[in-house]
Amino acid sequence: MPSYDNTLQDIKNRLDIVDFISDYINLKKTGQNWKGLCPFHTEKTPSFTVSPAKQIFHCFGCNTGGDIFSFLTRYENLTFPEALNVLAKRAGVELRTRPGNIQKTGEKEHMVTIHKDACAFFEQNLIKSEQSQKYLKGRGIDAHTQKLFSLGYASQSWNALLNYLTRKGHKPEGIKKAGLVSQGSKGYYDTFRNRIIFPIYDLKGDVIAFGGRSIDGTDPKYLNSPETLIFNKRSVLYGLYNAKNAIKESGTALFMEGYMDVITAHVHGISNAVAPLGTAFTQEHGKLIKRFVEDVVLVFDSDQAGIKAAKKAADILLGSGLNVHMLLFPAEEDPDSFLRKHGKEAFQKLLENPLSIIDFLLKLKADRRVLAREAIETISRVPDKVLQGDYVKMLSEGLKINEVFIMEELKKAEKRLSSGYHSVNRNMESRPKAGPRHLDEVITLQLLLQLPDKASESAARLVPEDFRDLLSREIFQKIKQGIASVNELLQHFDEPGKAYITELSMRDDIEDAERALEDCVKKLKENRRKRMLSEINSKIVEAERKKDQKLVTQLQKELQKIRKS
Ligand code: GTP
Ligand code: MN
Repeated sequence: MPSYDNTLQDIKNRLDIVDFISDYINLKKTGQNWKGLCPFHTEKTPSFTVSPAKQIFHCFGCNTGGDIFSFLTRYENLTFPEALNVLAKRAGVELRTRPGNIQKTGEKEHMVTIHKDACAFFEQNLIKSEQSQKYLKGRGIDAHTQKLFSLGYASQSWNALLNYLTRKGHKPEGIKKAGLVSQGSKGYYDTFRNRIIFPIYDLKGDVIAFGGRSIDGTDPKYLNSPETLIFNKRSVLYGLYNAKNAIKESGTALFMEGYMDVITAHVHGISNAVAPLGTAFTQEHGKLIKRFVEDVVLVFDSDQAGIKAAKKAADILLGSGLNVHMLLFPAEEDPDSFLRKHGKEAFQKLLENPLSIIDFLLKLKADRRVLAREAIETISRVPDKVLQGDYVKMLSEGLKINEVFIMEELKKAEKRLSSGYHSVNRNMESRPKAGPRHLDEVITLQLLLQLPDKASESAARLVPEDFRDLLSREIFQKIKQGIASVNELLQHFDEPGKAYITELSMRDDIEDAERALEDCVKKLKENRRKRMLSEINSKIVEAERKKDQKLVTQLQKELQKIRKS
């Protein structure tokens, strides 16, 4: 029977970490490695590095790292067994499930299966429902687009979905946990009834929730799945799974307000559009998009409510480090109605010249001082200093106010911001880095990893106490036990350890490594000897102070012994 470690290695051998991470992040080749913007902290220049040779990633900005398993657990917030399941499936490796694990791992997976089955059911219904077909065709959504978004229909029945899913072997309690049925006094009943169904995907392409639009005037107009184990609506963008390639290719994401806007945009060949799920934009949305691009265009209508919403959205997204532009429609139009009335060309013409966030603010016909104050407040949320500088300049030119004055006010605004309000990414930025390490120990470990053939022989000459730093010591102990490959080592450590190991193996190879290793071994031993000597010396001083002659003699003997060794 293959061992657990072998299974992990088997999975790793069949998957390429660059391929895998490219599904989530835009990576560019630089030298031997690939680089992109780190998904785990906010940054402007890529320090997230993936090594195809070593099959690991490491971010030099926030000091995280690991293998394909660590990436997936962190990125999707999965437990290790959950990530193992996902990756095993992808690699085509069969897992022998250990009984203790099945339940926990199973719950999310099971919920995804329920959604998959429900989605297929709704899709089938839609094809047969004349009323819905008529409705969708009336809104310009043909069969091809229906399929592209897996649109569906939930019939008037109170239990069609419930019956279907129980026939498929799902338990009513599980279906309820997934949010697809509700429980009343007479038992369970379908949550979505007589609605067009919009499946909501995560980035892996799994359906994790549904939105349903009423087609008979019943309130609410839109109904979304409740929050579940697999669905947190603040961090999901509708359409992102379909849009992510177009977003990467175009370098821009279009943020719209609703499901229908996104779908109509696709119908007209504009494929880089996404929308929140009826909530306001959040920092999580910003960070999600930041994994793919830097530039976003907010597409809102220009009535009072639209402008207010746009301003709020801009503040939040700027705080995620995005470069925010605005495209305002005539009042009462949304992208859906505009595209259907004026067509793709007119839309793209508007898109050619979106307003920068500053120009947008300047266009609001307000008092010059109010404008300045609001704009400075907005600029203060921008984490990137270069971008901030650009905005200051634009504001200075637009309002004919000296840049120096703006900078002064900006400093005050930043102080207010950091005292009262901590945005997600500001907290991330100040996350403490790993403690200071001792360079000689770092280099020794690096060399042991660089020279796996020499590792056991050299490690045998060292003892764990030769390393002062505890983490270095633990890593050394594993190497001494014969676990000398980076990939194996990673499996034995949690986060700070993983980051340290990937950092070590991302360092440039040391020249003349064998000699360097020899020097390091000597140096570590010598350092430890010095540490011991000075420790005993201070003990002797202490013993002399206490006039403990017996202890002094004993310590002096020890001192001699170490001096001789
Ligand atoms: P259509 O009327 O079909 O064109 O939809 P729309 O997308 O234009 O809707 P609207 O502009 O009214 O709202 C924008 C988005 O807000 C929708 O796509 C939904 O996500 C959300 N929304 C609208 N109405 C409701 C509601 O009654 N309940 C909830 N939860 N969300 C809603
Ligand atoms: Mn609409």
